[in-house]
Amino acid sequence: MLHFAVIGHPINHSLSPIIHTQFAEQYGISLTYETINTTPNHFINTVHQFFKTGQGLNITVPFKQAAFQLASQCSDRARMAQSANVLWKNEADQICADNTDGFGFIEDLNYQNELYCLKNAEILILGAGGAVQGILPDILNQVPKQVVIVNRTLAKAERLITQFNHDTLRVKQTHQLHTPYDLIIHSTSATLSNQLPDIPKQAINQQTVVYDLSYGMSAQLFKMHAEQLGVKQFVDGLGMLVEQAAESFFIWHHVRPKTRTVLSQLHNTVKKAIS
Ligand code: ATR
Repeated sequence: MLHFAVIGHPINHSLSPIIHTQFAEQYGISLTYETINTTPNHFINTVHQFFKTGQGLNITVPFKQAAFQLASQCSDRARMAQSANVLWKNEADQICADNTDGFGFIEDLNYQNELYCLKNAEILILGAGGAVQGILPDILNQVPKQVVIVNRTLAKAERLITQFNHDTLRVKQTHQLHTPYDLIIHSTSATLSNQLPDIPKQAINQQTVVYDLSYGMSAQLFKMHAEQLGVKQFVDGLGMLVEQAAESFFIWHHVRPKTRTVLSQLHNTVKKAIS
């Protein structure tokens, strides 16, 4: 029996065990996938302890940067993001890291609209936390025209600009948004405290897609907000969650699971949970 887990703090409501169990069933792979709740002080020990018997770990908030730092080998996208959401051991018994969040985001966006292409797109990102750090390498790889970051704390957005050092990437303040964006990515945790980040009307037109990296109640609140502002196309982050999991699964098992049936079941589960 193979052993996998997701580590975070908190972790109770993770959907990863359901997703990976369903992927494994598609291929008749026998595995366990558990949730591990640990504290920042115990994170490194918990990872080493897990790998005495386990094959692969997903990493979630707040440990993605720590996971990247403890790995001996990493992919280019994890190095660019300076954060990791997947760990495994190679044949030399070294811990390896990758970051599949950006892949999951782009893959889901392509599913939502096969013609949707970020090449030359004008992108606005609300927030500058760990989630943005994880997806920026894959977004920049799509060669957008411009990626503007707006964040409550300007210094944090400026830190991302320095980290990624890319000529399409810039920081603005809300009052400086005068033109429409093709894609607006919402990544703040503001909705958790019932606050909604401001989007000026000028930043939205008929074609604007709003993609919320979260799902469930938090995304629901932002969806209502976006619709009131005239947004016609809204996508929540559940598809990204499933697609990043599929890429983790591919890294561990070298086979690519079908994602869309798993996603539609999860949509029903989440809808029931918030109704
Ligand atoms: P994650 O890993 O989910 O990105 P995070 O790293 O804690 O979480 O980042 C949370 C983001 O939400 C940050 O951009 C944060 O802004 P600050 O950098 O100013 O803290 C943003 N955020 C949280 N609460 C907010 C609020 N009430 N209004 C606007 N932005 C908020």
